[in-house]
Amino acid sequence: MTDAARNLDIATASREAEAAYVAANPTSQRLMEEAAAVMPGGNTRTVLYYPPFPLTIVRGEGARVWDADGHEYCDFLGEFTAGLYGHSHPLIRAAIEAKLDDGLLMGAPGELEAKLAAELCRRFPSLDRVRLCNSGTEANMLALSAARAVSGREAIMVFEGAYHGAVFVFGPGGSPLNAPFPFVIGRYNDAEGAAKLIDEHAADLAAVIVEPMQGAGGCIPGEPDFLQTLRDATERHGIVLVFDEVMTSRTGGGGLQTELGIVPDMTTLGKYVGGGMPSGAFGGRAEIMDRFDPRRPDAFMHAGTFNNHVLTMAAGLTGLTEIYSTGAAAELDRRGQDLRRRLNAAASDRGLAVQVTGVGSLSTVHFQSGPIRCIEDLCSDPEARTLFQLDLLARGIYSPRRNMMNLSLPMSEADIDGLVAVFEEFLDDRGPLLAS
Ligand SMILES: Cc1ncc(COP(=O)(O)O)c(C=O)c1O
Repeated sequence: MTDAARNLDIATASREAEAAYVAANPTSQRLMEEAAAVMPGGNTRTVLYYPPFPLTIVRGEGARVWDADGHEYCDFLGEFTAGLYGHSHPLIRAAIEAKLDDGLLMGAPGELEAKLAAELCRRFPSLDRVRLCNSGTEANMLALSAARAVSGREAIMVFEGAYHGAVFVFGPGGSPLNAPFPFVIGRYNDAEGAAKLIDEHAADLAAVIVEPMQGAGGCIPGEPDFLQTLRDATERHGIVLVFDEVMTSRTGGGGLQTELGIVPDMTTLGKYVGGGMPSGAFGGRAEIMDRFDPRRPDAFMHAGTFNNHVLTMAAGLTGLTEIYSTGAAAELDRRGQDLRRRLNAAASDRGLAVQVTGVGSLSTVHFQSGPIRCIEDLCSDPEARTLFQLDLLARGIYSPRRNMMNLSLPMSEADIDGLVAVFEEFLDDRGPLLAS
């Protein structure tokens, strides 16, 4: 870093970092341009796009990934939390390989899905019974549709800043593709406001769905008092409370519901529960879930060609029963908390308005001071977020434009120390450009 670079304003520094990124990644750029002929923007998953073009990642091993131009990174994105086990965990790989020998598509119940379901029910206090599906989006769609069918009510309460999947986007601007449910939208962590809205709309509300920590929204933890208020108010009115633990279920191995001692009526899961294979799950109280029992004349239909795909069942079950014990989960949470403490100390030692929020092994960096309790509190300069991501990539840390950092099991202490060192370098180099 030259003195001249240090004296730039943040927008100029960001453009300069972008120019260096373009120069270093010609293959990724070419691949995206070629892909754009057949996929809109060369993209098939919006969150993976960032300007001027995203890196194409061609290989992963343990906690490392390599891009198409041969650069190596420590993977702190961890596939937005689905990459808990890292790349190519030997036990998961062996489980998948063993299943490959027996064939892939059975068109019948297999011997593993009930074992995976039993492990999920054992871990999550709210799950009397569970059903498996293919994504977090699908899990939420099915849980909310079930709540509507069971209650005979139509509306769903959500919170500003929430992300519950491709058709449940409640961040800035929402999405015209959202599911056509009538939504009542509350403010996250506003217990009093939420209780009032629930009382007001009780006659129409089928469900209240909440992330116990808003993940995509910036790793904003739900306050225990807020979540307990949701529990009390929904119970009072017979409204189904759904905890979307698609991201937070890794915490403690039994999700934030276990840590908080709050039991929702339904829980949705996804990400790592399939051991790195496409997966989702939804479940809850027996009275609700038993409506899916096909032996009943009034059974709800729940289809899905790949709901019990043998590779997902094998990888997911191996992950939960042979790798991610509750002890391993507690240790990963401890490492995540320790990382946040170190990063926050590095920022405050330098008097910079930078903070890291999150729970357990999931964190997001924000370029601002003051409490962050809901999306309205977020005011990081987008240029700072861009510069941070590009500077980290240039120093061998793979992380997304939203500045989220997720730990994975194969990460070593040296990997975490490496991130802290890169973070401190960023603060030293770019600190003068950031608001203090
Ligand atoms: C809290 C939450 N719910 C649901 C989803 C959707 O999961 P999927 O991408 O598997 O559809 C996500 C994905 O990031 C999520 O973070």
